[in-house]
Amino acid sequence: RTAQLTIDPAFSIGPADRRLFGSFVEHMGRCVYGGIYEPGHPNADSRGLRRDVLELTRELGVSVVRYPGGNFVSGYRWEDGVGPVGDRPRRLDLAWKTIETNAFGLDEFMTWAAEAGVEPMMAVNLGTRGVQEALDLLEYANHPGGTALSDLRRKHGAEDPYGVQLWCLGNEMDGPWQVGHKTADEYGRLAAEAARAMKMIDPSISLVACGSSNRRMPTFAAWEATVLEHTYEHVDYISAHTYYDPSDGDQASILASAVDMDNFITEVVATADHVAAKQRQKRKLKISFDEWNVWYESRLQADLDRRGWVEAPALIEDDFTAVDAVVVGDLLITLLRHADRVGVAAQAQLANVIAPIRTRNGGPAWRQSIFHPFALTARYARGTVLRTEPVSPRYDTKRYGDVPVLDTVAVHDEETGELTVFAVNRGSEDLPLDLDLRGLPGMSGLSFQSIAAGSDPSATNTEAEPDRVTPRELPTPTPDGGRCTVRLPAVSWSVLRFG
Ligand code: AHR
Repeated sequence: RTAQLTIDPAFSIGPADRRLFGSFVEHMGRCVYGGIYEPGHPNADSRGLRRDVLELTRELGVSVVRYPGGNFVSGYRWEDGVGPVGDRPRRLDLAWKTIETNAFGLDEFMTWAAEAGVEPMMAVNLGTRGVQEALDLLEYANHPGGTALSDLRRKHGAEDPYGVQLWCLGNEMDGPWQVGHKTADEYGRLAAEAARAMKMIDPSISLVACGSSNRRMPTFAAWEATVLEHTYEHVDYISAHTYYDPSDGDQASILASAVDMDNFITEVVATADHVAAKQRQKRKLKISFDEWNVWYESRLQADLDRRGWVEAPALIEDDFTAVDAVVVGDLLITLLRHADRVGVAAQAQLANVIAPIRTRNGGPAWRQSIFHPFALTARYARGTVLRTEPVSPRYDTKRYGDVPVLDTVAVHDEETGELTVFAVNRGSEDLPLDLDLRGLPGMSGLSFQSIAAGSDPSATNTEAEPDRVTPRELPTPTPDGGRCTVRLPAVSWSVLRFG
């Protein structure tokens, strides 16, 4: 059982867009309150922003952050979250059965985003609201001044417009759980009208129409086709969301989750291209994969059942395992492999809620296992993504049938001359991998880091033991005549660098 991989810079997929390394801050659980924002915390600045979380966000290498939801946005009135904090109303958040204090809102988020060095991606409410409120929000955020809403922003302390470029037209409108859920025709019409009018205010913005909440939705593909019939000419992206649930303990299947994501992307692209062909559209639409992760989703109901209306409860604070880190690394490989058609991606969510960063109220912040593959991919996936065709042994899974043991992608940085190979070994035994780098002559090994879950698959990082799951250095590969063999540990995600 060996695998082979040949790398050649002639086979390029496209640039590794920085926007693929996005994350998501929703008003949900303790993502905002107790996550990125906690006035009075010893590490908080004068505005209540947690400096320790800001530092970890920068270390994670996040490029773009979607805000404020998620299901939350479908009942949200953005005006509640601006102006003097003492005047802001307390509201019921129906999505998460929570009291929203509105102490944190748009202006606080923009301040946080600037501190974190991330690009904001805003979502408008197309659940309980419509075109007018989307226009109002855009005017407040992006119009320079001299109108009621742009001057209101200036009065609130933001003299310059925020210039938000990325806007989501609602969230998961195909889901029956969504407040203001719609049929594809209802949503498609509304999204097209909102998009047309928003671009009248600011033609420079890019818009994301809601695709399916996951590939298992009964309306999947038909939803995308209908929504795009209405919106294709007005939008720049169609969204995709997916979460993989390891709760049933079927490790072989969860390790193959990226096979499903890969098929999902291919099918959304095919559907978008079908609509483009019908409408004689020349422009190819991209996907905004703006929610993805591992999520022990079966635990959500218990979280929601156990209480009444409270402020910022702990919701879906999953402790991620070493195996989950391997899966997350593999999902990033998949997104990179589709860099020609996936233009934006956001891991959900950033802090506490199924998140790479965990905190305790009043206490420390730490890195979950899934933090590491994200941070290393964001750091090293620079340049051009190269097509790889690995030759791999295969194994059988209950959920996805027969799948390859090995998954890979390579990125070549023409500026530095460096080559990075990301590789996942889904198998329960070490996998020898023969690498052929003759297409890039003169390469030496720089490093080989790996997160190996084989010996302790359920290991997690906790407040008491925050560094139990971290990448380990393995012997640097030494190519000879452009060839070398490396040993990928059992159940592992690895990053191999050459230069
Ligand atoms: O990220 C958690 C939730 O998952 C989001 O609010 C929603 O869009 C999705 O169903």
